[in-house]
Amino acid sequence: MKGLAILGSTGSIGTNVLRIVDAFPDRFGVVGLAAGRNVERLAEQVARHRPRVVSVADEDSLGQLGRLVDLSGVTTRVGVGGMVEVATHGDADMAVAAAVGAVGLVPTYRALEAGKDVALANKETLVMAGELMLARAAETGARLLPIDSEHCALHQCLDGRGPDEVRRLLLTASGGPFRNRPRETFDRITREEALAHPTWKMGPKITIDSATMMNKGLEVIEARWLFGVSPDRIQVVIHPQSVIHSMVEFVDGTVLAQVSVTDMRVPIQYALSYPERWDAAIGGMDFSKAMHLELGPPDLARFPCLGHAYRALELGGTAAAALNAANEVAVAAFLEDRAPFAAIPQTIQEVLEADAHPAARTLEDVTEADRRARERAREVLARRGGARTRPGAPAPLSL
Ligand SMILES: NC(=O)c1ccc[n+]([C@@H]2O[C@H](COP(=O)([O-])OP(=O)(O)OC[C@H]3O[C@@H](n4cnc5c(N)ncnc54)[C@H](OP(=O)(O)O)[C@@H]3O)[C@@H](O)[C@H]2O)c1
Repeated sequence: MKGLAILGSTGSIGTNVLRIVDAFPDRFGVVGLAAGRNVERLAEQVARHRPRVVSVADEDSLGQLGRLVDLSGVTTRVGVGGMVEVATHGDADMAVAAAVGAVGLVPTYRALEAGKDVALANKETLVMAGELMLARAAETGARLLPIDSEHCALHQCLDGRGPDEVRRLLLTASGGPFRNRPRETFDRITREEALAHPTWKMGPKITIDSATMMNKGLEVIEARWLFGVSPDRIQVVIHPQSVIHSMVEFVDGTVLAQVSVTDMRVPIQYALSYPERWDAAIGGMDFSKAMHLELGPPDLARFPCLGHAYRALELGGTAAAALNAANEVAVAAFLEDRAPFAAIPQTIQEVLEADAHPAARTLEDVTEADRRARERAREVLARRGGARTRPGAPAPLSL
C-alpha cells in the first residue's frame, strides 16, 4: 500500500489522481490532502478517503470545511506551512505535486528534502528551482516522476538512458487554440476564446499558458532539469492532434515516440505505479480508422513566450523564477480582464530584461527573485493600465 500526500487535490490533476486511487483501492492509501479554497470538493474527498492530515489556503476555508464534513481524527492545517506538513507526513511514501503555480514550490522542495518520491505535475516549481530540486532529490534518493504528459513520454522513451546518448528531446505541442489565428487579431483575444483548448481539459492557468505557448516554454525548462539535456538540444514540434506526447532522438538517429489517448490518467498512473505498469481502466488507441498526424515547427513570432523561456535559460540564475512569476501575474490579470492577451508575453519580456538575475543557490534566492519579479510585473501592467491588486491574490512565498 503506497501512502499518498496529494497537493492540489481539488484541481483537474488532483481529481484525476483520486480517480486512479479509486481504481486501485488496494494499492493506495490517501495520507494527506491539500487544496486552496474549493471546500465543497475537498469535503467530498475527505469524507471518502479519510486522510490523516488536510490543509487549505486559509482559516476561513478551514472553517467552511469544518461545517461541511466531520474532521474528527483529521489533523487540519492552513497555508504553505500546512501544505508542507501534508507533503512530508511520516506515513506518505509519495507526494503528488498538483497545486498550480509557485505556491507548490516550498512543499515540493521539502518533500524531496524529506526523501519522499514526488509525482510532479506542478511544473512551475521545477521552472523556478530546478537545479536545487534535483540536487535535493539526488541527496536523499527521492525520485522525481513527471506527470506532465510530454515529460512522462520522454521518461518512457529514455527508459533510463542518459543525456550522452540523446541527440534531441522533441517536445510536442498542440499549438493551442490560436495556432492559425491571424497575429494582428491577438489583441482582441477574449478570456473565453483563450480558455477553449482544442485537445486538453485543464485548469484555467495552464489553459492560458497553452494559448500563449508559455506552457511549452515552461516544459522546455522542466525537461532541461529533469533529463539534464542542454537547451539547444530541446526542440518543440507542433502536433495538433496530441497523439504523440513527445519523442527522443538518440545519437544513432533513432527516434522513439510515445503514443496514447489524450487522457491525463495515463501519465498520472504511470507516475504513481512506476516502475510497474498496471492494467488501466482507460481506453487505448483506436487504429482501426485512418488517422492523420501533422508535425511541424513552432512560429516563434506568433508565440514569443516560447522564446522567452529559452532566453531565461540563457540568462541563468534566477531568471526562470522571474519568468514564471511574471507569467503568473500577467495570466491572472488577463483572466480577470485587467490586461489583454498580448500583455502576457510583453510583461514577461520586460521583467526578464529589466533586472540582473543572481544565482539560485538557496530556496531564499528563488523566493526573493519571485517576489521581485511579481512587483516588477505589476509595475509593467500598471503602466499599461491593468494594475489593481486582486483581493485573494497569492501572498508572497514564505519558507
Ligand atoms: N490539467 C492538466 O491536464 C495538466 C497537465 C500537465 C500539467 N499540469 C500542471 O499541474 C498543475 C495543476 O494544474 P490543474 O490543471 O490541475 O490546475 P487547477 O485545476 O487549477 O487546480 C489547481 C489546484 O491547486 C490548488 N491551489 C491553488 N492555489 C492554492 C493555494 N494558495 N494553496 C493551496 N492549494 C492551492 C487548487 O485548490 P482550490 O481549487 O481548492 O482552490 C487546486 O487544487 C499546474 O502546475 C499545471 O501546469 C496540468
